[in-house]
Amino acid sequence: MSNYNINSSEDYKRIYDESVNHPEKFWNDLAKDNFKWQKHWDSVLNWDFKKPEIRWFEGAQLNITENCLDRHLINKAQKTAIIFEPNNPKEKSEHITYESLFHRVNKMANVLKSKGVKKGDRVCIYLPMIPELAISVLACARIGAVHSVVFAGFSAIALSTRINDCNCKIVLTSDGSFRGNKILDLKKIVDTALKDCPQVSSVLVVERTKTKIHLEKGRDYLIESLLNEASQDCPIEVMDSEDPLFVLYTSGSTGKPKGMVHSSAGYMVGSAYTFKNIFQYKDEDIYWCTADIGWITGHSYIVYGPLLNGATTLMFEGVPSYPDYGRFWEIVEKHKVNQFYTAPTAIRTLAKESIDLVNKHDLSSLKVLGSVGEPINEEAWKWYNINIGKNKCPIVDTWWQTETGSIMISSIPNVIESKPTYATLPFIGIQPVLMDENGNEILENDAEGRLCIKYPWPSMARTIWGDHKRYKETYFSSFDNKYFTGDGSYRDNKGLFRITGRVDDVIIVSGHNLGTAPIEDAINEHNLVAESAIIGVPHDIKGNSLFGYITLKEASSASLGESLKKEINQLISKQIGPIAKLDHIEFVSGLPKTRSGKIMRRILRKIANNEIDNLGDTSTLLNPEIVDEIISKVLH
Ligand code: WT7
Repeated sequence: MSNYNINSSEDYKRIYDESVNHPEKFWNDLAKDNFKWQKHWDSVLNWDFKKPEIRWFEGAQLNITENCLDRHLINKAQKTAIIFEPNNPKEKSEHITYESLFHRVNKMANVLKSKGVKKGDRVCIYLPMIPELAISVLACARIGAVHSVVFAGFSAIALSTRINDCNCKIVLTSDGSFRGNKILDLKKIVDTALKDCPQVSSVLVVERTKTKIHLEKGRDYLIESLLNEASQDCPIEVMDSEDPLFVLYTSGSTGKPKGMVHSSAGYMVGSAYTFKNIFQYKDEDIYWCTADIGWITGHSYIVYGPLLNGATTLMFEGVPSYPDYGRFWEIVEKHKVNQFYTAPTAIRTLAKESIDLVNKHDLSSLKVLGSVGEPINEEAWKWYNINIGKNKCPIVDTWWQTETGSIMISSIPNVIESKPTYATLPFIGIQPVLMDENGNEILENDAEGRLCIKYPWPSMARTIWGDHKRYKETYFSSFDNKYFTGDGSYRDNKGLFRITGRVDDVIIVSGHNLGTAPIEDAINEHNLVAESAIIGVPHDIKGNSLFGYITLKEASSASLGESLKKEINQLISKQIGPIAKLDHIEFVSGLPKTRSGKIMRRILRKIANNEIDNLGDTSTLLNPEIVDEIISKVLH
């Protein structure tokens, strides 16, 4: 990205100005010179936020894997593309070169083809963090199939909902997955899920844990022998710029997860350019992002962003606590990691453990530290800076979303200074604005508002799979002609952004974006439950923990106490996954409601957080008397 690399604050100012004053020229020049295209575009950008319709590089043709793999074979065939660090530190790590990755992707692509997968078909990938996960993602992209990666911690019901929503006919999975000293039976979860997915014609199974599994005749295949027989050459499928590259589900404030659809060309340009500059990746660097490829962070900053830049990207199968809480630092030392990207929840967890677990490792290779997923509190920021970065590594607090495809607001090492709890400034080409509740743009600094983006950027999601109406309603209807992020933000007197959190019914728990509605739906399935409302309360490690207010059909069932609470959490685990379990449950006889019947979560949130002095006017509620009852239950 030679002519647009950002190495100084002057570069940033000059390029940022160019990118907002002449966006089409800027993106045209950047895209033209830094990627391999099969055909050049006819127009750089067509957009209309009212419809909404966004098309970048229309008329262009490409394949993102040609950019991730083929073009590096000339100079980097023997460079390590992926370092695989297994769950068990006694197992050997694996270095996969660009050439070898190229062949393994082609083999996988040929296996998918042999199972009838064609351009445009959706393929569900439900795999642990093993090389085959990255390889499957790229194999889909190579043949133009749309990948839908489902995080391998989701339950059978969550999985089947996602498989059915975009009508996948093929599922890639493994026998099991290693998580610390546990084994998760992934294939068993898939078997349960597929009872509700009759259209799935093939399941391809990677053997990782060698656990005993059931193979359904005519449907399930062990993948190893198929890969061995497959050719290591597979031509690229030529894709149009706007052909979907992948679907990735994220929670919303209504029950159904939203399948965000990302494009081929725009996503490529955005993920590559942000990776290179925000992490200041240099050619020999070893880069590690601890996320799971089941989330957008893994898509953009483990797989695509790094590989598009010919980088070495580390994939870690395990958990930060195994065999002990020093594992991350042991890996940094072992592989001499230069850029390290993780989440505040991980930092807070590790900061609670003995500092010896950090100090016994040599972390001198580190140059840049990153944070993503939720606001990072000052204490965690400082711990990260002092103990991991030794006060010499810039910290990039990167704000973005599944929907944005790539980082939107972040500092840049040695270019834009970090400031604790601030994401700081918009990346090149990004035009954030703050809006007040009346829909007016807030122009002054030292102000707080709803965070919107007023101009398109290449990597933005183009629609919600099968539901363009919901895409419009969720992101383009709150404010005229703007993309609404759902987040609030403060902007200080220097124009730096500090994200204050969600303003809608989404709660971020350990960096996972959880919609309240699907959790409430799960709870309400219990035959003793009448109604429920979930709110978030601040939590030392998880950022937020979930607090549930539940009304029962028969008040007397409350005497079941802990056993009922356990059953409710089991239901949540089954419907969504253990990440959505409630830390606290309060049985109440009613929920505060407006006259139109809307649950007043604001009041419930204040009570749970012991802020009852400013509950606001409750007299207009349908049932004001319930507030006192809830207060006395929760606070006494
Ligand atoms: C939501 C998006 C983007 C990858 C991980 C999450 C919150 C994300 C930050 C940050 C403050 C952040 C926002 C956002 N968020 N990064 N650096 N500072 N908040 O992706 O699941 O789509 O969640 O995560 O609330 O809207 P996601």
